[in-house]
Amino acid sequence: MLPITEVVDLLTEGKVVAIPTETVYGLAANALNENAISAIFTLKNRPFFDPLIVHIKDESAAMDYVEYYPALAQKLAKTFWPGPLTLILPKKDVIPDLVTSGLPFVGLRVPDHPLTLQLLKALTFPLAAPSANPFGYVSPTSAQHVKDQFGDSIAYILDGGPCKVGIESTIVMFEDNKLPVILRLGGLSIEKIEECIGKVTLDIAKNSKPNSPGQLDKHYATRTPLKLITEVDVESINLAKTGAIVFNKPFDFIPIENQRILSTNKSLTEATQKLFWAMRDLDACNFELIVTEIFPQEGLGLAINDRLQRARS
Ligand code: TXA
Ligand code: MG
Repeated sequence: MLPITEVVDLLTEGKVVAIPTETVYGLAANALNENAISAIFTLKNRPFFDPLIVHIKDESAAMDYVEYYPALAQKLAKTFWPGPLTLILPKKDVIPDLVTSGLPFVGLRVPDHPLTLQLLKALTFPLAAPSANPFGYVSPTSAQHVKDQFGDSIAYILDGGPCKVGIESTIVMFEDNKLPVILRLGGLSIEKIEECIGKVTLDIAKNSKPNSPGQLDKHYATRTPLKLITEVDVESINLAKTGAIVFNKPFDFIPIENQRILSTNKSLTEATQKLFWAMRDLDACNFELIVTEIFPQEGLGLAINDRLQRARS
């Protein structure tokens, strides 16, 4: 593994480096360098209308990049950073328009991973980093996932082990005088957010012209068609060529080796951590179909169901 000082050098030269976070791996570059940012969009085949999240070293750094930092946003940040929470706030000019797709708002987050925090503290600039997957595909939760897709096309992959949360950050937007709005469900549950700051509203509707491209209706998708079990006629599918993602108990009509059980003891935290691994693992099995259960509609179960809905074909 390269010493952190050499990773600092690569990023300072404007190179793209994959970084571990607690949620998913990111494809990172200097957020203040437009050439470096362009390279991320090209590598990911990502449309320029889809803004990037800026990763900062600690909560106090937020002030350097936002015009307005309301009390409720500060309260969330002080409670949950480092952690799976992205705040969308009015940006300062120092953040290039390319990062925010021309929007006057920037997404900020302090990731909870010791290597990446060490890196951010050693850098003189913040890191823009989308999830390290080709646009539309399942996000990576290990260094191997990143390697499978980007191989030698990026300068370096900083291996920080498997991601402990396993699903992207929850995105909360703050606009003047409006209730905070959740734009993407993720690794921090709505229940925890509301416990901290009170009522929030939800705007996560699937559509093709989204406020946050995490709302795109087709996203996080496997190449193998994926359907909720309630949508298929079990009699008419080839069960030997069907994979399944289940919470704690396998389906009795699908071969057991085709199934990925996310948490035998019904932990939504464990299920979240394994979700993208299971999707990628089954996608590599050449099945005709992947079927999934609907998870409990509470806590992290809401985020799991959101990703499964968007991965459906
Ligand atoms: O957990 C995460 O958030 C991971 C890790 C690497 O930090 N990052 C991530 O990035 O999921 P990405 O680019 O795959 O998803 C970022 C989402 C996109 O849907 C984007 O539209 C939204 O954040 N976003 C970023 N900046 C925004 C802005 N200014 N306004 C609205 N949405 C924004
Ligand atoms: Mg993504």
